[in-house]
Amino acid sequence: GLSRRRLLGGSAAVAGAAGAAGIGWGAATLTHREHDRDPALDTVAFYGAHQAGIATEPPGHAAFVGFDLVAGVGREDIIGLLKIWTDDASRLTQGKPALADTEPELAARPARLTVTVGFGPQLFTAAQLDDQRPHWLKPLPPFSIDKLDAAWCGGDLVLQICADEATTVSHAVRVLSKHVKSLVSVKWVQRGFRNAAKGQTMRNLMGSVDGTVNIAPDTPDFDRLVWDDGGYRPWLAGGTSMVLRRIAMQLETWDELDADGRAITIGRTVDNGAPLSGTKEFDEADFQVVDQYGIPKIPPSSHIARAHHTRDEERFLRRGYNYDDAPAPGQVSNSGLLFASFQRDIDAQYLPVQQRLAEFDALNQWTVPVGSAVFAIPPGVPGPGGYLGQQLFD
Ligand code: HEM
Repeated sequence: GLSRRRLLGGSAAVAGAAGAAGIGWGAATLTHREHDRDPALDTVAFYGAHQAGIATEPPGHAAFVGFDLVAGVGREDIIGLLKIWTDDASRLTQGKPALADTEPELAARPARLTVTVGFGPQLFTAAQLDDQRPHWLKPLPPFSIDKLDAAWCGGDLVLQICADEATTVSHAVRVLSKHVKSLVSVKWVQRGFRNAAKGQTMRNLMGSVDGTVNIAPDTPDFDRLVWDDGGYRPWLAGGTSMVLRRIAMQLETWDELDADGRAITIGRTVDNGAPLSGTKEFDEADFQVVDQYGIPKIPPSSHIARAHHTRDEERFLRRGYNYDDAPAPGQVSNSGLLFASFQRDIDAQYLPVQQRLAEFDALNQWTVPVGSAVFAIPPGVPGPGGYLGQQLFD
């Protein structure tokens, strides 16, 4: 059998153990992995100043679950729910069954499980805390490119559950959902996946290397652009916000584009994701470089030219997942991106970029936003005894 000592063995954090390449995702929270250890036993610390699942390197599988509060649920019920989620998450992420876990066996492979909780705009009303809602926590304005389906929009609460094993994700989703089922109803579940190779940028289902230009965790940029400092809403210190956009890909017509057409659309090569002004993935894109005819090597209409920040404040963390669901009758695919971004201030950081892309982006011909939701992500639980979101309710 699996001894608890072995499961938790060597829990000392080792800074820089993984994620050497790329943007250097937070590896410091990963527990030490011995050579003979099954990677499915790896855990990510639950307690800390920030919730896990943001600065931590994204594992291979994710489920985003949106919940609506049942009518009549108020402040004390919400606190009760958050205490349950805190207790469940603090156990499951460390490879231990939740209390009254009906399938405790499924908890034995945490596989870097993280549970991240977020608050939708209406939760503040239900909790009679309207004055504590951040000004940026409201549905995104409509964009001309949107074809939103209400079934993928909004939510009073969100759980982002990530792990390297889909079984682990399923178990955590089920435990966390059923333990609070009298207080909330599940509004949507969006499941996704990404390349699990550590230290490498994932590819999306269009085949593009996706996530190259990002903010590296544990840098001053990350602390400034992602984590709230409490100056505006003291309860939010150490928290952030999440934008979740479900963006469908029109792969049937994308198929008609060759590698050059795809490169011009994105502004980067298909081969290794290098900007068209350079040769290697992490070469900095130079939007001024022109070819022998004086034409910019990175087309101004390309996705990266349009998405590139025009001011420092326009930067944010992207931490998305691919989705690939069952196609509708007569269709071949139903694939896309669960675009998840984290930023201190949605209005200042995310919105200007999204607005620019909605005005024009060569990629828009093959992508359609079908879902949209925004959440405030409270800080982490500093240690045992506290609960998620406590800073808001104290
Ligand atoms: C860059 C794909 C939607 C913001 C990129 C890159 C790819 C890509 C392949 C280049 C590699 C990289 O740096 O990551 C996609 C796809 C989308 C999508 C397939 C939809 C299905 C969005 C949205 C936003 C966004 C909705 C924000 C509103 C960015 C930013 C960059 C980027 C900021 C980096 C630009 C730079 O070079 O400075 N995206 N993207 N993307 N994307 Fe997207």
